[in-house]
Amino acid sequence: MHHKTLILGACGQIGTELTIALREKYGLNNVVASDIRATEDPVMNAGPFEILDATDIHALEDVIMHYEIETVYLMAAMLSGTAEKFPMKAWSLNMDTLFHVLNLAKDKKISKIFWPSSIAVFGPDTPKQNTPQQCIMAPSTVYGMSKLAGERWCEYYHLKYGVDVRSLRYPGLISWKTQPGGGTTDYAVDIFHKAIENGSYESFLAPQTTLPMMYMEDAIRATLSIMDFESTSLKKGIAYNISAMSFNPEELAQEIAKQLPGFTMSYAPDFRQAIADSWPDSISDLEAQNDWHWKPHFNMEKMVQDMLQHLSP
Ligand code: SER
Repeated sequence: MHHKTLILGACGQIGTELTIALREKYGLNNVVASDIRATEDPVMNAGPFEILDATDIHALEDVIMHYEIETVYLMAAMLSGTAEKFPMKAWSLNMDTLFHVLNLAKDKKISKIFWPSSIAVFGPDTPKQNTPQQCIMAPSTVYGMSKLAGERWCEYYHLKYGVDVRSLRYPGLISWKTQPGGGTTDYAVDIFHKAIENGSYESFLAPQTTLPMMYMEDAIRATLSIMDFESTSLKKGIAYNISAMSFNPEELAQEIAKQLPGFTMSYAPDFRQAIADSWPDSISDLEAQNDWHWKPHFNMEKMVQDMLQHLSP
C-alpha cells in the first residue's frame, strides 16, 4: 500500500486539483483531504475528508496519527490581497501552519512536506525580467514577507534537522475547476467567468501590468514531479522558480477576444495594482529545468482555449 498523504486547505484553488490528482495517482483512500470548513463537493467527499483548522496543532496531530500520514501538502494560506487587509492574521496563519508541519517532520511524525512559495517573495528592487533563482528579494507585501520567511525556515529545517521539505515559487495560477480567493493574479481567472457570462470584464490591474502566470495543469504536474523526484540533483529545502508564460491584462483580453469575438475590457486599478507592480514580469526557471527536468506544456493561447472550452455552457 502506498503511504498516506494529507492535504491541508484541500478546498482551495490548488488544493482541489491536487486532491484529484493525488487520489488518481495513489488511490482514493490513501489521500486525506482537509479544510477548515465542511464541503458538499462530491469530489472532496469521494475519499476521506476531515474538517481541520491547520493552525490547531493538536487537531492536526490527531488527524496525522489517526490516518498514519507520512506526507503533508500545506495549501492553507492567506493570499496577497487579503493579507494586506489583515496583516497579523495573515502572518499567523501562514507561519503557524508552516511551523506545525516542520516541527511534526522534525519530530519524525511525518516524513515529507510540500509547501508552496510564490513569486511574491520578490520585491520592487528585484530584476523584473527573467528573474533568477537567487537575487535581491525584499518583498513589500505581507504575503511576500511570509513566503520569504517561510522559505528561510524550510531551508533551515532541512539543513539543521534533515527535514524533507520541497517547494515551488508558483506564478499566478489559472484554473477552471475552482476559483482563487484574495490574490492579485485572480483577475486572470475571473476574466474568463465574466467573459462568458457578460462578454466584458473590468480589470483591477492596469492594461500593461505584466505578471508571470501558469495553467493549473502545469502547476499540478510540477508539484507531483518535484515530490516524486529522487535524484541528488534535486535540492531539498529550497523553493524553485518555475515559469510557463507572462502576459498583461491587455494581452490576455486580446487573446480572449480572438477566441470569443466581441469581448471587451475596461480598467479600474485598485489597491492590488501596487502589489502587482512590486512583482517580476517574468521568471527564469533554469535551475528547475536542470535539477528536476521541469518543462511547461501550456502557453497563453493554449491556456485560453482550454479555459473557454471548459467554462463555456
Ligand atoms: N497568486 C498569488 C496571489 O496573487 C501569489 O502567490 O496572491
